Amino acid sequence: MEVISVEGGHPITGTVTVEGAKNSALKLMAATILAPGVTTLKNVPNIADVHVMGKVLKELGATVEVVDEHTLSIDTSAVNSWETPYSLVAQMRASTAVLGPLLARFGKAIVAMPGGCNIGARKIDMHILGLQALGVEFDVDHGDIHASAPHGLVGSTVTLDFASVGATENLIMASVHAKGTTVIDNAAREPEIVDLANMLNEMGANIEGAGSPVIEIHGVGELHPVTHAVVGDRIEAGTFVAVGGIVGQPVTVRGFDPNHLGLVLRKYEQMGLTIERGEREVTVSRSRDIMPIDIQTLPFPGFPTDMQAQTMCLLALAKGTCIITENVFENRFMFASELQRMGSNIVIQGHHAVVHGVEGLSGAEVRSPDLRGGAALVMAGLVADGITTVSDIYHIDRGYERFVEKLQSLSARISRVVIPTPDFGVS
Ligand code: EPZ
Repeated sequence: MEVISVEGGHPITGTVTVEGAKNSALKLMAATILAPGVTTLKNVPNIADVHVMGKVLKELGATVEVVDEHTLSIDTSAVNSWETPYSLVAQMRASTAVLGPLLARFGKAIVAMPGGCNIGARKIDMHILGLQALGVEFDVDHGDIHASAPHGLVGSTVTLDFASVGATENLIMASVHAKGTTVIDNAAREPEIVDLANMLNEMGANIEGAGSPVIEIHGVGELHPVTHAVVGDRIEAGTFVAVGGIVGQPVTVRGFDPNHLGLVLRKYEQMGLTIERGEREVTVSRSRDIMPIDIQTLPFPGFPTDMQAQTMCLLALAKGTCIITENVFENRFMFASELQRMGSNIVIQGHHAVVHGVEGLSGAEVRSPDLRGGAALVMAGLVADGITTVSDIYHIDRGYERFVEKLQSLSARISRVVIPTPDFGVS
């Protein structure tokens, strides 16, 4: 079993460059289905989830060529299937992002119903309701969603109950060829939505308002392949900003737009971190105690749920008590129970985590509960007393490229270690 072992208490400083955004790259890959031919994607992160999406596209008949570590050439001319197997959807919920493109291209799709995951039920009811408004008919059979638009997709107005990122993306992609105009109201505004709309418009689509709560998609004819660079990963960047904040010495994070972390950086300044903003980089340091401030996670431009665990890690060492409220997912506090093993003092009450700051953390054996919680546990290990061993690190590898190496480049005492799988058998 491979674990991450980190020894706390050592200086961490230097510069790190983040990759392209996981939560954009996966959807851009799915969107290549809409433009038969060879699309080249640059600044693609070399992470497990991208490899899974590559398998999904190949399963559908596409060819996916790795031009270099961060460049993919995807030819979807020969895509001739519209069915994604459960095995791949079960590995990665984001596989459902092919639903919209397959409906737009073929008028039908069979996508395994995604299961839940550690952070919540992860339903797709808003995707389905929105697509039904465009004329798509659904039938669920043995765990598979059978979608079809026998009379083609027709533009309509869809108001989302919640500004769902995935539902917004699937509706945008499904409606690029729809008759007339589709209006998505209460749309998600994340930078990854804007990146997707930008690429689709480069392909010949006609999408207005991405990044605002109201997005209009005017149906057009065939799209053409393009070359597009993935937007920088604001969450990977935010994770390294939090690393700089918890250790205190200057850390510079490059390769992203600081405006995509606007509220996070402002909250971190309120917490006592010093943040210097550049055009494509941020330098963070801390010369005073961390101050407790309340955090509410919300859709963009609100505080991102994907930065909740990393921020809880900082606040666990604050001089006082604060409350973190998780409004996006129903079960995203598992990180807290692992952090308790390192000596934090956090009380979970439903969607609220009451965080009582402690003087320090102590190293322990902990398990990564999910992608962001895993990264936050490693972050805690950087300042804990002694050794912290993080297991289930496959979660981290899903979304962070060379996470250990990047921390090593900041002088962290950290490594990946293979240890014998514990034998719980009854002897
Ligand atoms: C995307 O997930 C991201 N994943 C998540 O990042 C991120 O946390 C989330 O957006 C919110 O920003 C990718 O882009 C691959 P949602 P998504 O639809 O699209 C509920 C990470 O760590 N909901 O905005 O699944 C849903 O259960 C990951 O990188 C419905 O109930 O998020 C959740 O509680 C984690 N019905 C909330 O809405 C639906 O039809 C937000 O979901 C759709 C969503």
